[in-house]
Parts: sequence; C-alpha cells; structure tokens
Amino acid sequence: MSQETVKGDAFENLLHEERQFPPSAEFAAAANLGPEIYAEADADRQAFWAAQARSLLTWSKDFEQTLDWSEPPFAKWFVGGEVNAAYNALDRHVENGLGDRVAIHFEGEPGDTETITYAELTERVKRAANAFEALGVAKGDRVAVYLPMIPEAVVTMLACARIGAVHSVVFGGFSADALRSRIDDAEAKLVVTADGTFRRGKPSSLKPAVDAALEAPGHTVQNVVVVRRNGEDVAWTEGRDLHWSELLEAASPEHTAVGHDAEHPLFILYTSGTTGKPKGILHTTGGYLTQTAFTHSAVFDLKPETDVYWCTADVGWVTGHSYVAYAPLVNGATQVMYEGTPDAPHQGRWWEIVQKYKVSILYTAPTAIRTFMKWGREIPDGFDLSSLRVLGSVGEPINPEAWMWYRDVIGGGEAPIVDTWWQTETGAIMIAPLPGITATKPGSAQVPLPGIAVDVVDENGQSVPDGHGGFLVVREPWPSMLRTIWGDPERFKDTYWSRFEGMYFAGDGAKKDEDGDVWLLGRVDDVMNVSGHRLSTTEIESALVSHPWVAEAAVVGAADETTGQAVVAFVILRSDAQAGSGDEAAAELRNHVGKEIGPIAKPKHVLIVPELPKTRSGKIMRRLLKDVAEGRDPGDATTLADPGVMQQIAADLRK
Ligand code: WTA
Repeated sequence: MSQETVKGDAFENLLHEERQFPPSAEFAAAANLGPEIYAEADADRQAFWAAQARSLLTWSKDFEQTLDWSEPPFAKWFVGGEVNAAYNALDRHVENGLGDRVAIHFEGEPGDTETITYAELTERVKRAANAFEALGVAKGDRVAVYLPMIPEAVVTMLACARIGAVHSVVFGGFSADALRSRIDDAEAKLVVTADGTFRRGKPSSLKPAVDAALEAPGHTVQNVVVVRRNGEDVAWTEGRDLHWSELLEAASPEHTAVGHDAEHPLFILYTSGTTGKPKGILHTTGGYLTQTAFTHSAVFDLKPETDVYWCTADVGWVTGHSYVAYAPLVNGATQVMYEGTPDAPHQGRWWEIVQKYKVSILYTAPTAIRTFMKWGREIPDGFDLSSLRVLGSVGEPINPEAWMWYRDVIGGGEAPIVDTWWQTETGAIMIAPLPGITATKPGSAQVPLPGIAVDVVDENGQSVPDGHGGFLVVREPWPSMLRTIWGDPERFKDTYWSRFEGMYFAGDGAKKDEDGDVWLLGRVDDVMNVSGHRLSTTEIESALVSHPWVAEAAVVGAADETTGQAVVAFVILRSDAQAGSGDEAAAELRNHVGKEIGPIAKPKHVLIVPELPKTRSGKIMRRLLKDVAEGRDPGDATTLADPGVMQQIAADLRK
C-alpha cells in the first residue's frame, strides 16, 4: 500500500472552514432525535444497539447476547436472535394496517410509471419466494442478480432474503467476464436478469451478457430467470431460461416467512480492493438491518407517514442495497425509484421527478451534483423543489462549492445537508451530521454516529490531535460490519485488521479539524473513486496487460472536476503490436477494458509511453504518473532507476 498520498500536501491544504449551518429551530424541534442520543450511546454502546435492534425490528426470536467478540475480527451480533428481513420490510407493515401505503413510486426512463403499495410488494415477494423455491433454491444457496433499476430488483433481493438465499447483485455496468467471475466465486445456482433496460431513450441490453457469461462450461448456474423490460429480442436456452412473469403468475401468493438466525448471510456484494481480484463482502441479517434502519431514520430524520424519499443509487452498489432495498422498506417509507439517467429526455428529469412526487428527502452523490452545477442552475430553478427538506450526499468527498450549491439551489438555502461517510464493508452510514442536531459544515462528514467509534490515527495507531491528519479507523465492532470476505477469511484479516492492532482500517485518509470534525481525504491505497464507484488500479492494469498488444501498464486516478477521479492508463506496447497509431491503440484498449471489466472501468485517457517510471527495486512510481496526469511537474524523480523517463513521458504528452 502506498502512503505517499498521505505524506503529501493533502492534509495541509485544507482551509479552515468558517461557515456553519445549524438546523432551524423549527427543524430541530420536530427532529426524530435530540442531542442526548450521543451521551446515551456513549454510556453503553451495546445496550444502545440492543435497544435499537428491539425497537426497529420485529424478531421472531429475541436475542440472548448483543455482541460476541470472543474471536476478533469475526463478530457475532444479536446472538441467538431470529429475524426475517422480508417480513420486517413488508408483511409486518401490512399486518399493521399500512398495506395501502405506497412503497415504491417507480418511474421508468421512457416515462412509464408504476405505483406499488406495501400490500402489492408483499404479494410479489411472496410469489417470487415460492417461484425460487420451486426452482430448487434453498436456504444458503446463492442467487446472482443482474438487473436494472426496476422494482423486480428489489422483489428479487427481498424474495432471496425471505427464503434465506444469499443474493449477489452484480451492477449492470459490469461485463460478461466480470459477471462470470462473480458467479463462479459465489457458486450461484440461479441468475435473475432482464432482457435489458433503457439508456438515454435507447434500449440497452443485459441478457446477452448473461448468455456470454454462461457460455463456457463449468459453472454452477441451473436457471436464468428473465424479466421482460425493454422488449428486445433475446436468445433463449430452453430448459435453462425462464420468464419471470410466467413463474410469478404460476406461483402462490401465500408464503410464510420464518425467522433466520441473526448471523445468517443476507448478501454478498463484490467490491474492488487493492489486488486484481474483487472481494465478496459478506453481510449478515440482524446487525445489518438494525444499523441500516437506525441510520436511515436518524440521518435523514425520516417521517415515514409524510416523507417521500428518493435515493438515486443503483441497486448494484451498496447504497442501493442499504438505502433502497432494505432500510426504507424496513422503516415503512414511501420511496421513488428511477430507472434512467439524469439527462433523459432532458437535463431537468430529476427535478421534474422531485416536483411530481413531492420528494422530501434526496440522497445522491457529489458527482451528480457537480454535473448539475455544470449544466446550470436555470434547469433546477425551472421546477418546484420546495418539498425537499433533507439532502444527503455519499460516495466521495463533497467539495465545499458543490455542497453550497446543493444547499442553495436544490435545498432553497434551508434544507440541511447530510454528508454520509461509509463503505460497502461498513454496510451502513458511520459518519454523518444529524440534521436536527449538528451545525453542518460544507465539505465535512463531521461526526461519528451515536454508537460508532470512528477515529483518525497516525502511522503508529495513535489518535491524532484535533487539527491533524492520518488514517481513518473504527475502534469498536459495529452491527452492520462485514463479517468476512466470501471464501477468504485470511484476506479479510489481512486487508482490514492487520494494519493497526485491534482496529478496522478503512483505507481512507482523514483529518480532524480544530473542532474535532472529520474530513475525508480520499483513499490511501490503490483504489480509485470514479463518480462514487470504486475501481481498483490493479484490476484495470491486469485487464490491460491481458491484451496481446500490451507489454506493461500502470493506472492512476487523476483528479477530475466532475467525476472526482478519472482513470488514466499509461501503457507500453509490445514491439509487435498491430496498432496503426496511438489513437487506434488507445481506442482498442479502452474497449478491451470495457469488455474485461465493464464500461464503468474504461480509462478516460490511455497514454502510450515508451517507459514507465520505476524505482531501482522495480516498483512503478504511480505518484509521478499521477502528477503528470494532473498536469503537474513531477518534481523529484531522482529515486528512479532511470531519471530521464519522466521528462520523456512529459515531453511525449505535450506533443
Ligand atoms: C468513499 C459507498 C468521502 C471512501 C457507500 C470510501 C466517501 C469509499 C464518502 C467506499 C463521503 C464514501 N466522503 N468519501 N461521504 N462516502 N466515500 O464501498 O473513499 O462504494 O472508502 O461505498 O467511498 O465506497 P463504497
């Protein structure tokens, strides 16, 4: 892991932020939580979480022990308890007379809509649960989900949870190869997909990638269930492929949910790490549901009777798991789900949706906000956004300018902004202001949530004083923590628990300001963050060198105004490469990465270079490449084996 980034300017460059925005008296008075919540949680962290678990969830069997930490870092929360995630998200609301409440306002990209009540969603999930069971999917089996942002994605996830099957959602932007490696790693028995979706008015396909993924023998998949969405023709493998609509119609609408052990696996979600192989992050049931539900209520000040909540994340990412599929439904909220892009058919689509459904809580990513800033405030100004009362941000640091724009233009200068820091691994929000309590600060995620022990430490694991930077860690286990990496407990220990004794190492740099508020400073390892999506430099490098033209490749994340970081690849071609020109090679290699990993991983720039800067021990100096990619003078290159390399690369790039 490279620590160069931490020693650089990042920690020193932050200006002191003077602006603070306390909640209005009115907001604070009506807020779900008051300031005493921090002291209450501090007094007895475990008792606090036990109380949350019992008040937010309906357990079919109460737990006997809140936390078993006898074999760290393998935690067991709510030991002995039994709980069914789907029952908590669905049936119990219907039993409580809320069956007619809208669970999902679905807005398709072409403009088709569907309003789904809790009663209807419950019935669909029961039918899907029966259908999956009829296909032989049993408790503990893995189901791969490769679906667009349509209600069937949520139905599939909850149907799996209901029967105790473990879902592994693969983002639709990943390629057939990436899908296959995830199917193989989890040994999935079933794949649920769709013919495709719509992207900017055009059909965009998914099923062909599933067919390609399953082409080579040796996989574990028995059936592929296909949702009809965009109506495109798809190839059909008789006996293996089945129509979603036919299966659900034939299935019984009755299904009794039984409780699963609190530590029963709920899902696997693959995320990028510092090596080429994605990690299957494993989450279990009781702790995950408790912390996602608590944070959703606390951080967004959710009032389920009156709020209309909209999280724009895709279900292929953790935000779409915790804050679309699970927490909002467990909390009985009404949410909007939108299939498409923000500019289809016009750049005001999101604001039209906010106006139409009177969205009151919006949860999105800084990259989207920066894109809207670029498009201009006249676009949102053309819509009535007065329903918005809380605005959330997630996925990457939000720069103060974007924060202020979000507050002023989207939030009418009043809606509190909650900048939420967390990870696939943490399962739920860990650091965020509480909107009725905290005076918010543009650009800072600020304070650990009640019951969460986050700290910033120096290289020796010592807590840094206020005003200093270091590494972000979590000092105590938390309910929604990852339990392991699927099939690789050693990697779980090495990656997260070996850097600092007894602490979870998040991989992020952070600083505490003079008030003790936390500022996130980006990754300190080889993970990039592009539009809030995690990508591994090593994974993209491996994809590049798998192309016959490539001798060697180095990838860096270069600062980008809109996407936070952009993928920039430096490539040395083989002498026998068939490329006609540098441009041709770059185009070919971008497409190759798209095929190997998926369109989201395609480098923005591929630069063909004669050499790469290396230390005398042969390690590529990515920091220097990053300097070049960001237009800086690479400065001191004397530690290089060949100090002339950087001048040559820089000169080539200026051509
Ligand atoms: C980054 C997304 C700054 C961070 C929920 C983390 C953030 C990685 C923030 C996890 C934030 C997430 N401010 N950085 N509010 N939220 N990050 O697993 O680098 O896709 O380690 O989870 O995103 O990304 P992941």
